[in-house]
Amino acid sequence: MFPDGVGAYVDLMQNLIPEMKDGIVRTAIDTGCGVASWGGDLLDRGIITVSLAPRDNHEAQVQFALEHGIPAILGILSTHRLPFPSNSFDMAHCSRCLIPWPKFGVIYLVEIQRILRPGGFWVISGPPINYETHWKGWNTTIEEQKSNYEKLQELLTSMCFKLYNIKDDIAVWQKSTDKSCYKQLNTLDNYPPKCDDAIEPDSGWYTPLRPCVVVPNPKYKKSSLESIAKWPKRLHVAPERVVDVCASGGAFKKDNHKWKSRVKHYKKLLPALVMNVVSSYAPNTLPVVFDRGLIGTFHDWCEAFSTYPRTYDLLHVDGLFTTESHRCDMKYMLLEMDRILRPKGYTIIRESSYYIDAITTIAKGMKWDCFKEAAEYNIETEKVLICRKELESTCMVTYFRSGI
Ligand SMILES: C[S@@+](CC[C@H](N)C(=O)[O-])C[C@H]1O[C@@H](n2cnc3c(N)ncnc32)[C@H](O)[C@@H]1O
Repeated sequence: MFPDGVGAYVDLMQNLIPEMKDGIVRTAIDTGCGVASWGGDLLDRGIITVSLAPRDNHEAQVQFALEHGIPAILGILSTHRLPFPSNSFDMAHCSRCLIPWPKFGVIYLVEIQRILRPGGFWVISGPPINYETHWKGWNTTIEEQKSNYEKLQELLTSMCFKLYNIKDDIAVWQKSTDKSCYKQLNTLDNYPPKCDDAIEPDSGWYTPLRPCVVVPNPKYKKSSLESIAKWPKRLHVAPERVVDVCASGGAFKKDNHKWKSRVKHYKKLLPALVMNVVSSYAPNTLPVVFDRGLIGTFHDWCEAFSTYPRTYDLLHVDGLFTTESHRCDMKYMLLEMDRILRPKGYTIIRESSYYIDAITTIAKGMKWDCFKEAAEYNIETEKVLICRKELESTCMVTYFRSGI
């Protein structure tokens, strides 16, 4: 899809969406990412992308992306919502992504509408865009592609998207910020209809897809793309959604300050790109992560993480065992961490002293080299365990032989 290279493709896209050039668009998702060339190119332009694809006949595309240091997770638009809260991404992209957007009661388009923030862009290239030029190469008829395009346009309009720009192979729609448009979703003949108020907009863990539109909550007045601060200022502004998880903007500032001093304590160990993982059982802080211009995903650490083995250079966990070990055995969480950690990769485990010794024993069984450090304020109740994974072959054999 990128005959002149992905750089030329993104140059063209930036001309259609000037907001990509000046820090307004900061977070993106690439559905059906292939080898994540798009997300990789955007990194150099200050836009951080979650590249998403399943393991299908395109093989280990997500592994390829992660090998190149591009944030990516295994995922599919199928029967369940994606693991993200509502109104999160500034932009979503699909280039020849083979997702049947108008089909199955439009549940896939509705999901894109949910995770995009108001004012966010949906960009599509490939069928049916520019069908007039390309239909012959798609093994179809011009009438069929024309009808597909018109259907897409009609559905998007009925979901409060507006065609923002279109040129050659790229079409851009924008999610509306206009309340009156969302009101019209209540009319009987509108399809897809507005979701029932009982449907939780942010739930993204084993939540079935439903053919209805999640209307942006009018109580949020500063979360749309046009009203949110530009990157990099955005990182330090208290998002308005912070009040849903902590009492005040003051608590946000305190947390920001705390983590600045903790990261300083870790010195040079932290990588440039972080996938922020919010436990599906914990308070929902993920909207705040996205509002700050960072990326993340919901996850339950009692299950496998949606990635290939040996894909992360560094794992950082803070109080995970204290909060989750009543739900599943600590060794399974550590085994999963070992699976996704690259040989010679590091883990930083911040835990209560109560758990640190037990974790150290299991970590040694997995052939991790660990040392215990005091926390930055040298308090007895909390410790930091820093471990490095040895080469995998010895690790797993020893782990199972040790009979832990
Ligand atoms: C033809 S490739 C295009 C890859 C890339 N976007 C490009 O333009 O080079 C199609 C992509 O869509 C993904 N895909 C197909 N169906 C999907 C679905 N239901 N949800 C998410 N990704 C899907 C495939 O795994 C693959 O990554």
